[in-house]
Amino acid sequence: VKKIQAAIDHLKKGGLVIVMDDLDREAEGDLVGLASKATPEKVNFMTKYARGLMCVPMAPAVAKRLALPQMTTDNTDPFGTAFTISVDHKSTTTGISAFDRWRTITHLADPKATNADFYKPGHIFPLVAKESGVLERNGHTEAAVDLAKLAGEEPVAYICEILKSNGEMARSKELHEKAAEFSLPIITIKDLQEYRRNLVSQP
Ligand code: 5RP
Ligand code: CA
Ligand code: ZN
Repeated sequence: VKKIQAAIDHLKKGGLVIVMDDLDREAEGDLVGLASKATPEKVNFMTKYARGLMCVPMAPAVAKRLALPQMTTDNTDPFGTAFTISVDHKSTTTGISAFDRWRTITHLADPKATNADFYKPGHIFPLVAKESGVLERNGHTEAAVDLAKLAGEEPVAYICEILKSNGEMARSKELHEKAAEFSLPIITIKDLQEYRRNLVSQP
């Protein structure tokens, strides 16, 4: 409980946390931040130290308002990761600099944003979470959106898988080392599921 609360507090301040999924799933760690609190510096940190694919998990209602269709109607990803078509905010130029990606991420979290504000395709990959979050699916998409909701912010996050410097996936040992090196909270999706189940069972 304390670990999840510390992670939420860190996210509220604009910080990044490491979220690990199950060993029998992807066994990966993603850096997660709240889209409403993103900064170009944090986006640059992700490109430098996480080096995976930068994605923007969002609640289904946000994807619906932004009218973002799924990338494919026949999703054959082993985990069914719900990629929509990719986007860039219309204030961007190349779409890929840390500054441009920050613009796109921030605008995806703007409650006033509409489909017309974005170029399609682009360099940011929105992901649509299941309505009931980690209680319905144990993916990073749901974990990131649940954390944003628990933080009381727009239910939109930005995430990126963490690779080792040799290009392999960082696993638990390396992820804990990274967390210590950069003073980042590290949690598992299991921890978050337990936290949410306890919230539900409280009178
Ligand atoms: C997008 C991915 C990542 O695994 C990301 O963590 C989101 O997927 P999921 O919700 O399935 O964990 O494939 O780069
Ligand atoms: Ca994946
Ligand atoms: Zn994942």
